[in-house]
Amino acid sequence: MAEYTRQTTLDAPSGKIADLKDIDWTFEGADTQYLTHGLHSYPARMIPQIPRTLFDYYKSKGVLSEGDTVYDPFSGSGTTAVEGRLHGLNAEANDVNPLACLLTFAKSIPLPREEVETARRELLDGLAEELREVRSAYEDGTLELDELAVRDGWFPEPQQQELWHVRRRIDGIEAEYGEGIGRLLRVSLSSIVRKVSYQRNGEYKRYRLPEEKRDEHDPNVFDLFQSELNKNVRKMRKYSARADHSLSTVVHYADSRTATSNDSAVEKDSADIVITSPPYGDHRTTVAYGQFSQDPAIVAGEYGYDEMKDVDKNGLGGPNSDLKPIADLENWSPSFGATLDALREKGGRAEDAMNFVRDYYEVMKEVAKILKPGQPAAWVVANRTMSRVNIPTHLITQELCQHLGYEHEVTLPREIPTKTLPWENAPENIEGTKGDLMANENIVVTRSPSE
Ligand SMILES: C[S@@+](CC[C@H](N)C(=O)[O-])C[C@H]1O[C@@H](n2cnc3c(N)ncnc32)[C@H](O)[C@@H]1O
Repeated sequence: MAEYTRQTTLDAPSGKIADLKDIDWTFEGADTQYLTHGLHSYPARMIPQIPRTLFDYYKSKGVLSEGDTVYDPFSGSGTTAVEGRLHGLNAEANDVNPLACLLTFAKSIPLPREEVETARRELLDGLAEELREVRSAYEDGTLELDELAVRDGWFPEPQQQELWHVRRRIDGIEAEYGEGIGRLLRVSLSSIVRKVSYQRNGEYKRYRLPEEKRDEHDPNVFDLFQSELNKNVRKMRKYSARADHSLSTVVHYADSRTATSNDSAVEKDSADIVITSPPYGDHRTTVAYGQFSQDPAIVAGEYGYDEMKDVDKNGLGGPNSDLKPIADLENWSPSFGATLDALREKGGRAEDAMNFVRDYYEVMKEVAKILKPGQPAAWVVANRTMSRVNIPTHLITQELCQHLGYEHEVTLPREIPTKTLPWENAPENIEGTKGDLMANENIVVTRSPSE
């Protein structure tokens, strides 16, 4: 509780915001890991101060009330859903990454304190000894090796077997205590997977430690897991004490381009507000959410390699889209038209830009159906470069929304004070190549079409 209260007074003039332009949206130095926000890392996470301040503002203006619903078409690690619940709102969300869906559920649904504590104790009881046994059986050559669906050569072998042992223990505890507790345990395991593997720290893409350094890499799975689990249990306890347990969170492992029509459809006219941070571009050339999530999801969840390897292809602008290019997009958004001209002139990647914006436009259309008329939709966007051409995503968002009948309320600039992204490799994503840093974002605030 103290953790959250301290942040409320520090970062956001909660409940007394006269104008959104009066806020310094950079929130430099703010704690972005409070409560369950700090359960698990995720690339390009939105800082919680953004939804929190917007919820406070719209509640104080009577635009939102307790029991309303927030929708996020790009849920990621669930920042919007967590803040929604802390503000008395139900949440609905989509993501094409199964790890994102797991994180959104795990972070936003509060759990009963006693049960969490009992499950934690039961899981840790005897685990260190069991892992020592796994290790020594491995070293003696008597261990029957389990086939984790991770790719060969990415983990030190004994630790890979230890991870798998923890995973099976979690499966057992989940069968006893239910899915909610199972998710908290899985997220704690997922969090340590990258540290245990040979992946280099500080990179969201899958780069391995050089071969000569791999022998020195001998992580202690039990210590890492115990400390992560204990931290997460503490965070969940605090979150549970604050959050309303009667609200609902629904996360669809589904494409937001077809949100109202796919098998796991979101109802039309069901949301009172949308707060979202779309990907900056297609996953392959910007942030590879699938690559980041692949091993953690396979080790901790019930997802296979084939499912995880498709995440980046299924993302906005990715090759699995079956939408056709829309020639008129460049007329509907003059800023997009000028961008395409600049890309064509440089022999740049006009087609990639078209594919991404076409897909993004489809989501704007779906959001217009899901949001009740006249309600706010905030799009948190960064301007990337492609072939050294700056893509003004905030203007493209504004213009395409206006074309669809949204009203543009305001655009709020913010700086990104900490580098949580592999900016250094952007935009080309070639190791060692430095592009322009994406050091600022814009929050484009719109109101959905009035009918
Ligand atoms: C910038 S991240 C969102 C971060 C999130 N706001 C948070 O705080 O963690 C963008 C997300 O969009 C998801 N995504 C990309 N294309 C999608 C699509 N077509 N439908 C649903 N989700 C998609 C990605 O998997 C990724 O999790």
